[in-house]
Amino acid sequence: MTTKKVREICEELILSQENLKEVCDVLHEELNKGLGKDTNPEATIKCFPTYVRELPNGKEKGRFLALDLGGTNFRVLLIQLGEKCSMDSRIYAVPQPIMVGPGDGLFDHIAECLASFIKERELGDELLPLGFTFSFPCKQEGLTKARLARWTKGFKCAGVEGRDVVELLKAAIARRGDVKIKICAILNDTTGTLMSCAWKNHNCRIGLIVGTGTNACYMEKLEKVELWDGDLDEPHQVIINTEWGAFGDNGCLDFIRTEYDNNIDCESINPGRQLYEKMISGMYMGEIARQVIIRLVAEGLLFDGKSSEILEEKGSFFTKYISEIESDKPGDYNNCRVILEELGLNSATDTDCANVRHVCECVSRRAAYLAAAGVAVLLNRIGEESVTVAVDGSVYRFHPHFHNLMTEQISHLIKPGMKFGLMLSEDGSGRGAALVAAVASRNSR
Ligand code: GLC
Repeated sequence: MTTKKVREICEELILSQENLKEVCDVLHEELNKGLGKDTNPEATIKCFPTYVRELPNGKEKGRFLALDLGGTNFRVLLIQLGEKCSMDSRIYAVPQPIMVGPGDGLFDHIAECLASFIKERELGDELLPLGFTFSFPCKQEGLTKARLARWTKGFKCAGVEGRDVVELLKAAIARRGDVKIKICAILNDTTGTLMSCAWKNHNCRIGLIVGTGTNACYMEKLEKVELWDGDLDEPHQVIINTEWGAFGDNGCLDFIRTEYDNNIDCESINPGRQLYEKMISGMYMGEIARQVIIRLVAEGLLFDGKSSEILEEKGSFFTKYISEIESDKPGDYNNCRVILEELGLNSATDTDCANVRHVCECVSRRAAYLAAAGVAVLLNRIGEESVTVAVDGSVYRFHPHFHNLMTEQISHLIKPGMKFGLMLSEDGSGRGAALVAAVASRNSR
């Protein structure tokens, strides 16, 4: 049984339908500002055109390399598309000092991993097309040209913002001189996710990530993209990488932000930035829960008022704990107890466990509803009768109720009569990158 006082304190994490409708209205306006030529420079949601204008038709084939940087891991992949599809990949760590060190160090590391993969798999004789999934906000100037607007999600390498990351990668590869590659496309993970799902599902129009960060892309008509400066040939559409993680950076979400959100922002390496992302994504969700929990302990409402050294450490309550705690059957606290013990809290009562679970539920529900509001806005803009939303990311994948919470809330927020489905997109960053590369080389032939 949860405690009344605990429920009261958690209430500020609960969003009403009115709150969510307002979030939708504001987001819609902010997206318009992002797409408008004159308003874009000041807009917080940048709505970058990706130069990807066609969805796959399912017939793409060939062998491709892909690089995937921007989630928890860095990966190199070898993808075979066609009647027989296969994927071989290797995960490489990106050590923390590299994440915040000089840019050349990062790109040298990527080039080194790529070179060792090519050697290991004996791919040295082939000049395979490569798709680079680089999941940070980039202003694209073409399919193979993307300037990093700013770092997000714990990366902060000097000398990269404002530069073309494809050039930086090419330069790092040239410094080594031992591998040859052909970079055919640079893309965001949301684009990869959309492409990967659209390959077999032809009404897919939106790609969503709820993982370390959150972001969405969608297929937009050129006439609505005032910002567009490419050609006006067929097809009259382009995938827009919204970079909605930055929603709220101008204060427009302050009406729902709490002291916990504020603390997290102040302690992050990018204060004042990515405020919507900080309320939703996996890099922050566990820490929000921890902030609430330590407040409840301080008020004597949990663990008899006694904290633990580990619990007091920033980042000690991992986001995966939320998924694990909520995976316990109602009334059962097995996972919860194991986690609390890991945190050095050995004498939790059933009431403590119920309260901790309640905190987790409030935090994850708020995240799911906010992400749902975002998706509803995109669905309403697209306005097609039936749309599939491709989704990936650790939070969506591993949280036991995220899919259902989102689905239920989206249906409250979209125009009547519209149909939609959220579909887990299998490996967008790999297969999606290969598909963008494939569609690109189809068009350049
Ligand atoms: C961050 C990045 C964005 C990416 C998202 C999900 O918001 O800025 O580019 O798509 O995380 O990985």
